[in-house]
Amino acid sequence: MTILGIETSCDETSAAVVLNGRTILSNVVSSSVDFHKKTGGIVPEVAARKQVESIIPVLDECLSLAKTTLKKIDAIAVTAGPGLLGSLIVGTATAKTLALSLNKPLIPVNHLLAHIYANWLEENIPDFPLISLIVSGGHTQLILMKNHKDIKILGETRDDAAGESFDKVARILNLGYPGGPAIEKKALDFKSKETSLVLPKPLIHSKDYDFSFSGLKTAAFTAFKTKKHTACEIAHSFQEAVCEVLVKKTVKAVLENKVNSVVLAGGVSANKRLRELFFKNEQLEKMKIKVYIPKIALCTDNAASIASCAFYHRNITQLEQVLPNSSLFFEN
Ligand code: KG4
Ligand code: ZN
Repeated sequence: MTILGIETSCDETSAAVVLNGRTILSNVVSSSVDFHKKTGGIVPEVAARKQVESIIPVLDECLSLAKTTLKKIDAIAVTAGPGLLGSLIVGTATAKTLALSLNKPLIPVNHLLAHIYANWLEENIPDFPLISLIVSGGHTQLILMKNHKDIKILGETRDDAAGESFDKVARILNLGYPGGPAIEKKALDFKSKETSLVLPKPLIHSKDYDFSFSGLKTAAFTAFKTKKHTACEIAHSFQEAVCEVLVKKTVKAVLENKVNSVVLAGGVSANKRLRELFFKNEQLEKMKIKVYIPKIALCTDNAASIASCAFYHRNITQLEQVLPNSSLFFEN
């Protein structure tokens, strides 16, 4: 089954052709991130206008790279939410128009669930049941997946998402946008093993699976204002604190649920320190729990993950039942 995926939830315009949910024939991603650097963050109206400009050229390139045509596509999948409304409308309107005019099935896809499916585009795929940590710019969730359909949110952030906190702290430190890669790069400049800056690790010992990053962001801001710490020291301590909380809570979820794999997903899983902490985690190794993290290009927003998710969920029409916080689904 060949699925054309379309993703326009934020500042990336992406189209992909994926065979049987596993094999990428093409995956074109065009980002308007450079326009958002000027404003230090995304202005939704600007992102939506950029989506309008990019969607047709991206679709054309994706079909030509896959050496296929719209007629040969079996179904069209599109991110239905969550995301920026103006940006989402561009993708959903395009997908609906294509589906209607070509008389092909339309599969609405939950963006967060799709991030998890980036792992199905790799050579080795996770074993169920699994714990998935979704860490993106808008969300932070721990999910228990017993199979493709049995999905339960164990916990999520009570305030800022992990990626959002990276972006906000980068802004405080004048490192530019997007903040995640900027903080990661700056933290590498901190060569000393010792630091007097100990930032809080919010909810690290809480009994639930929730996260909170807003207080940590404020603590980083307070440290910056004291002028006692360099930007690289703050970036280092902040990154360590976020990563430690994410790892600890994920391992707790593994210890308390019978699972075979840990699966990372979303933009923050591109962070090399986070990847290292998961791949070299002794507790997970001891329990023989395998860790799966997509290659960096598939961690951030891309349409191949949308097409893969659509393949495995093509018979579930009410995805809202699966992930209740996700609005914006529409009828096929
Ligand atoms: O999943 P994603 O591409 O889009 C959303 O669905 O939100 O995630 C974007 C987020 C941004 O907050 C960005 O700063 C963060 O992922 N990010 C990173 C890294 N690369 C992207 N955070 C930490 N380290 C990185 N290397
Ligand atoms: Zn995303």
